[in-house]
Amino acid sequence: MEERAGPVRVAIVGVGNVGATFAYALLLSGLASEIVLIDANRAKAEGEAMDLNHTVPFTHSTRVWAGDYPDCSGASVTVFAAGVGQKPGETRFDLIRKNSAIWREIVPAVVKHNPDGILLIATNPVDVLTYAAWKLSGLPPERVIGSGTILDTARFRYLLSQHFGVDARSIHAHIIGEHGDSEVPVWSLANIAGMRLPDFCKAQMLASDRAAMEEIFLQTRDAAYRIIERKGATYYAVAAGLMRITEAILRNQSTVLSVSSLIDDYYGISDVCFSLPTVVDSGGVENILRLELAPDEIEKLRHSAGMLKAVIGKLELG
Ligand SMILES: NC(=O)c1ccc[n+]([C@@H]2O[C@H](COP(=O)([O-])OP(=O)(O)OC[C@H]3O[C@@H](n4cnc5c(N)ncnc54)[C@H](O)[C@@H]3O)[C@@H](O)[C@H]2O)c1
Repeated sequence: MEERAGPVRVAIVGVGNVGATFAYALLLSGLASEIVLIDANRAKAEGEAMDLNHTVPFTHSTRVWAGDYPDCSGASVTVFAAGVGQKPGETRFDLIRKNSAIWREIVPAVVKHNPDGILLIATNPVDVLTYAAWKLSGLPPERVIGSGTILDTARFRYLLSQHFGVDARSIHAHIIGEHGDSEVPVWSLANIAGMRLPDFCKAQMLASDRAAMEEIFLQTRDAAYRIIERKGATYYAVAAGLMRITEAILRNQSTVLSVSSLIDDYYGISDVCFSLPTVVDSGGVENILRLELAPDEIEKLRHSAGMLKAVIGKLELG
């Protein structure tokens, strides 16, 4: 992507729990000089802008305002967190009907005013809505990114770090596929300092405990349900993940992140969005890393892609 002159603008469509928490994290980071908040509930966007502006004397001279779609013009990144959240007991797929209708309204409205920026999708079901955003926007696939399994991968690394007593940032392990019930842990490539987990256990004289590993995956996969039961929504960790993706884009960092984007012929799977470790830079998706998976992981990924394609097939994007 061409370098943009002038202030760095980030637009956020939907400033509920996720959008507002992301706006706060972005403001504290100082990465953006302009943050535009757009919400169907105008008063909510205005209230968030006022509250955020009052942090400016303590933080950075960032301009924050409640805007409308023309204000997306010139935004390097537009984050989509509009929609309805997951209610207790609901799966992310339950949200599809409600959120795809919103998509048909808001994606063309953003792209009309900003055909050159990157779209970053957080709303669930995030993989399906990333695909829908790609289709509805007409943008090249590298400029439409879903937060995908960046959150699940973070949860996985955190739980592994607690088990192994090693900093989560030193654990290299990925969750791929759907952000949701069919996601796939890549155990075959998980490592600490290049040592596969069974070898790490052997070297550290720890028991290599399959049941504990399975429990870590289940806690990773079901974390959103457990948090929603307790506090009604999840937003801090996903906002931090959105921040990390935004930073990789704005600073052209070529960071490997588990994010969702259009997949083309990976183990024969095409025309669906899901997460793989992906190099993210100022152009968006620079390179999707085609991991060599174990046979059982390929099978699980095919199942995950099949689930997503079944939902995508029912979308009305016309
Ligand atoms: N990708 C992830 O890892 C992840 C994690 C947590 C939540 N989520 C998802 O993020 C989404 C938002 O969750 P939340 O807790 O912030 O919900 P929320 O209800 O707090 O906020 C949603 C906001 O969207 C606004 N909105 C609704 N329709 C709109 C429209 N047509 N145009 C503009 N704004 C509109 C609402 O007014 C509200 O302010 C949900 O779909 C949730 O499942 C994703």
